Amino acid sequence: MVTSRLPGFYKLTLEERRRIAAEALGVEVRELEDALGAGGIDAARADKTIENVVGTYAMPFALGLNLQINGRDYLAPMVVEEPSVVAATSNAAKIIRAGGGFEAEADAPVMIAQIQLDSVVDVAAARAALARETHALLAQADGAIPGLVARGGGARALEVRDLGEGWLVVHVLVDCRDAMGANLANTVAEALSDRVAALAGGRAGLRILSNLSDRRNVRVRCAVPVGALGFDGYRGEEVRDRIVRASEFADRDPYRAATHNKGTMNGIDPVVIATGNDWRAVEAGAHAYAARNGRYEPLCTWRRGDDGALVGFMEVPLALGTVGGTLRVHDGARFGLKVAGVDSAQELAMLAACAGVASNLAALRALATDGIQRGHMALHARSVAIAAGARGEQVEQVARAIHQAGAVTVEAAVDVLRCLGGLHEGTPPLRVLVER
Ligand code: MEV
Repeated sequence: MVTSRLPGFYKLTLEERRRIAAEALGVEVRELEDALGAGGIDAARADKTIENVVGTYAMPFALGLNLQINGRDYLAPMVVEEPSVVAATSNAAKIIRAGGGFEAEADAPVMIAQIQLDSVVDVAAARAALARETHALLAQADGAIPGLVARGGGARALEVRDLGEGWLVVHVLVDCRDAMGANLANTVAEALSDRVAALAGGRAGLRILSNLSDRRNVRVRCAVPVGALGFDGYRGEEVRDRIVRASEFADRDPYRAATHNKGTMNGIDPVVIATGNDWRAVEAGAHAYAARNGRYEPLCTWRRGDDGALVGFMEVPLALGTVGGTLRVHDGARFGLKVAGVDSAQELAMLAACAGVASNLAALRALATDGIQRGHMALHARSVAIAAGARGEQVEQVARAIHQAGAVTVEAAVDVLRCLGGLHEGTPPLRVLVER
């Protein structure tokens, strides 16, 4: 059973972190290094993946810590270039853990395949004909995706939406099991379009999935006790109330909602990327869903619960896969999936969503109190302390000293380290330290 509590993980060296991570995951360090060492994919394989390849481009791969979902610990694989995101997500997940962690659930992995129709003269007759033939059409769809049907998925239902002026769109709902499902949905849409158009007495247009995959939503809830929210001079109740007001600000203002949701996607996207999933699809779906009521709204909301706890809730479409796609070619993505330790695409979607809720909470807690710059500087001070050679307890001591002195530089950190007696024979010269 994996534990996601790895106290002091951030203070370790890269080598130490690799060792602890491998141990936590029950794999050899070698396996981790083979998967991630060269960024997960070599140029030869990249060349077989997309067109006009001239190289590869690596990003940092980190572990999001402290996540507990439905009573189980998860390590979140996170690929992201933005400093503070992983620390903030891990820190907020620890706070949420104090209230029992996340409760999450995911819908069945159903994708929507769209068939556009126009020039339909009699919409009622088209609806009736399609309803009459639904059974046969679903069977025809299943015939186009036998592999998925063998894995327990397949076409489940047909829906007709009237877009006005003779325009209809037919949705075929396809249970894609552990696949993201874009290709499966597209295959189904193309296979059915001629027959659907003939039955409806119209002309077929586009045949493609919808990225507003709202049949495949994830719901996350958490209740954070106020005792876990306070820090420095801030009482927990005060922090809760400020977070609730920040959440209401996003309810009222789409300009704020966009940034609020960006902070949530800060937690979701890194998990999506680390597991080889299509983050453009996830982004498109999330923002379309955020605008479903005719105005752009926050995905994640925070309210005061009856018992005084801070209650977070989010519902978001997440079309993720744990088979096929990038996973076939990318060792890093396969390793990401191993880190996630999930058994299904639904479970992966829950993990990504929970990382999103944690990231959103971290951002609001900082923004509603000190602002985010202070935390960023504190984190930066830690990495500067480590770069200057600080280890173990010294990391915090040096970081605090240079942060308080307002001199967050490697030179200042080396000075503090020298005073602490932490620079001794064998410590690399300053030039080397700066280059690290
Ligand atoms: C920065 O990447 C994300 C934030 O702007 C999110 C927010 O404002 O809620 C801090």
